Amino acid sequence: MTTDSPAPGPTRLDVPALLAAMTLEEKASLLDGSDAWRTEPIARPDGSLTVPAVMVADGPHGLRKEPDDSESMGLGDAVPATCFPPAAGLASTWDPELVEQVGAAMADECRAEGVSVLLGPGVNMKRSPLCGRNFEYLSEDPFLAGTLAAALVRGVQGRGVGTSLKHFAANNQETERMTVSADVDERTLREIYLPAFERVVRQEQPWTVMCAYNKINGVYASQHPWLLTEVLRDQWGFEGLVVSDWGAVDDRPAGVAAGLDLEMPSSGGNGTRKVVDAVRAGTLAEADVDRAAARVLRLVDRAQPALAERTPADLDAHHELARHAATASAVLLKNEDGILPLDADRGGRVAVVGELARTPRYQGSGSSQVNPTRLEDALGALRERLAREVAFAPGYALEAGADDETVAALRDEAVEVARDAAVVLVFLGLPPSYEAEGYDREHLELPPQQVSVLEAVAQVNREVVVVLSNGAAVTVHPWQRHARAVLEGWLLGQAGGSAVADLLTGRAAPSGRLAETIPLRAADTPTVGAFPGERGHVRYGEGLLIGYRWYDAHELPVAYPFGHGLTYTRFVWSDVEATVGRDTPAAPDATTHTADDDARVAVEVAVTVTNAGARAGRETVQVYVHDPRSAVHRPEQELRGFVGVELEAGESRRVTVPLDARAFAYWDVTLQRWVVEGGAFEIRVGASSRDQRGRAVVELAGDDLTAPLSAEQPTSAWLEHPVAGPVLRERLAGSVMLRMFEDPQHGPMLRAIPLRRLSRFPDVPLREEQLEDLVAEVRA
Ligand code: BGC
Repeated sequence: MTTDSPAPGPTRLDVPALLAAMTLEEKASLLDGSDAWRTEPIARPDGSLTVPAVMVADGPHGLRKEPDDSESMGLGDAVPATCFPPAAGLASTWDPELVEQVGAAMADECRAEGVSVLLGPGVNMKRSPLCGRNFEYLSEDPFLAGTLAAALVRGVQGRGVGTSLKHFAANNQETERMTVSADVDERTLREIYLPAFERVVRQEQPWTVMCAYNKINGVYASQHPWLLTEVLRDQWGFEGLVVSDWGAVDDRPAGVAAGLDLEMPSSGGNGTRKVVDAVRAGTLAEADVDRAAARVLRLVDRAQPALAERTPADLDAHHELARHAATASAVLLKNEDGILPLDADRGGRVAVVGELARTPRYQGSGSSQVNPTRLEDALGALRERLAREVAFAPGYALEAGADDETVAALRDEAVEVARDAAVVLVFLGLPPSYEAEGYDREHLELPPQQVSVLEAVAQVNREVVVVLSNGAAVTVHPWQRHARAVLEGWLLGQAGGSAVADLLTGRAAPSGRLAETIPLRAADTPTVGAFPGERGHVRYGEGLLIGYRWYDAHELPVAYPFGHGLTYTRFVWSDVEATVGRDTPAAPDATTHTADDDARVAVEVAVTVTNAGARAGRETVQVYVHDPRSAVHRPEQELRGFVGVELEAGESRRVTVPLDARAFAYWDVTLQRWVVEGGAFEIRVGASSRDQRGRAVVELAGDDLTAPLSAEQPTSAWLEHPVAGPVLRERLAGSVMLRMFEDPQHGPMLRAIPLRRLSRFPDVPLREEQLEDLVAEVRA
């Protein structure tokens, strides 16, 4: 008789005991990788101490694991994995639940391969559409990026696999990415470039955060104490490990002291030596090494349960999920006379034009490049789905280099295929060489050859639909009049071909919404003249005005606004309402309220959405907050909440969107905290940043902002103060100055004089020596 012995459980690490038993050299060795993808193991020959290695791998839209026999960080073939839509696509879903499912599926593939940390998501802001790596980032809006990234991290980590939130921070261009200094004022950092990181850290505690290559205000992110310790740990409460971007380390001991725990890839012992030497020389505290080593040990420890259970992933199910995600990622930009979906009952030939229909561009190039388990193209998928003849002409060569004769022949062939077709589906987009990790784009245009094919086709057939493949915004203005519909496909991952076919044929309805503005012209974008910088610096002169915040502030028309997206049905919105507080006091308490407290509902917004069309569809309710009066400059409106709602034809639902106190707050640089200014806020509810469907006003008590009075403040502050005002007036009674304060012309100038300097003016019945007593009197 045999008895089943239980499967051996995961080996857990006793971190404090290990740390206490380790030599300085052993601890320092943990802070350096062992190769391109693994942490350093420790195995004492006498067996008295063992620490296993763990493996990390890219990320972020699928697993890119180098085969086990490879020690390089080459970008060659990786182990096959499901290629989900890259961030540019996934963000357009505006669907955290779906993003979470994608995260869970990626984690299952990591588990099957023994990978403990997936290197993503990337939450850098799309400061300029020219950034060559925008396809890997989620949005121009920090709330949307943070919300979706939190969902992804939840999905991955819920399966016992870690994430690496990257690239922390202000890594918003590829030009000189390893050296440039992003020169950004603090409020802009706090309100635009950090909040997506902050949200994910506070809500999901990613196992790791990856520091950026670049400098921030002159200091490398890899050795920035304010960023890596003060903000990330002391203020946001990060408990995980900070890993360097691959090759981001400049001064290793300075990095350890600042809070950079792990250097990747392996520095071949160089980092370890420098750390040991610095401790011996007394320039680095051993306690700093201990702290970083403990974090590496904790990472290794928390990876063990998943490593103990390596089960194969369900790649068929993941392909289906990749299709679902791709379907939800595409954005229908325009659809004149309902040309889409293609009319199944209408006969006639369908013409498909464009190499991209046959050779899909489904992800960007660089470290995120997944080796897909399978790959669908739209042409094949359309042929499968349509019971009509589908003719094809490539129309153009994807990359430049063809001679004039070939270009003309390709174009002529496309025109012939299009001529008598019932409808022409023209696939256009950016060739791989136009956008990639490592360099930025030079312009926002499609290749001229592609545009001229579209023009030629449109001359012989008006029934043109354009499908785009691009990792970041392209200008549509120069050519979109030639198309009756435009479907923005972004990069849709391995199942993008069938997803597009489903959308065009109406098997699925588009539901994507733009996570980035499509500008009319490159010249309208926020960073003209300030991207990608010069002489090692890029100055974020546009401040808070990134993306739609810029176009709103400058009242600029755009091709398609942030949040835009059509579908095959029509929604009617009604009864917008905003109520202060639900499970909180009626208004934030002036003394105890901290705007960091994002669990509390400050305002609840409600709206009824009705599907007034003939088929099911998904609407995305977007909530923007406008502060009509503020002590500091604020963007015209900011996205602070959203929710997707699926409705059958004729169905109606009341949806609610909770807003936390942060939705109303700004970062006060003087007080060094988030502040809600009391007063009225306008809540704008809409289907895009420029398609508002209703408004409501709420009154918030806000925080107590009264700074204690001092003699250095302008006299106006004293005069307006409820206690000090009457006291000062009494002291100045009968003086010319007091009378002059009320003078419409000179009053403002005089009231701006700080009280201490006013006391030195002739004929002012208040002497500098009396000020101390006066201040004490009014503060009492
Ligand atoms: C990229 C990271 C990536 C790492 C490892 C770096 O060049 O910036 O995003 O995770 O390489 O491939």
